Amino acid sequence: MEMEELFEKARKAAEASYSPYSHFRVGAAILCEDGTIFTGTNVENRSFGLTICAERSAVVSAVSAGKRRFVALAIATPDSVKPVGPCGACRQVLSEFMDANAPVRCGGSSPERLDTTMGALVPFDSLHDLAQKL
Ligand code: THU
Repeated sequence: MEMEELFEKARKAAEASYSPYSHFRVGAAILCEDGTIFTGTNVENRSFGLTICAERSAVVSAVSAGKRRFVALAIATPDSVKPVGPCGACRQVLSEFMDANAPVRCGGSSPERLDTTMGALVPFDSLHDLAQKL
């Protein structure tokens, strides 16, 4: 699976965004170890603090289907020109199921892409080895 293909799934997922407060749509697509893909979008609430990011929507969807290992991630933010990376909370949640070398592609409305890795997004992740072993 090409990263741009995964990004396209994320872009499509952003179309379902429920973001009447920020008007900032986000889509995320997770490639699982077995080749399956799960997507998510941001779901806002009039009690603003209850907003769920696209990345965590996708994680919850994948884990609910029994998936535990993610090998790649794409994030689409069509309302920004430039790529936008995941928030700190989502980085932590994603790192539970992704290895440091897993590729991450972010992109906005322009052709510019930010290609990085899970490890670069969560450096010094000393508790990573604890994940899934509790
Ligand atoms: N948002 C995400 O879904 N993912 C991110 O990585 C950044 C922020 C959402 C939350 C909120 O609905 C909107 O984008 C503006 O912050």
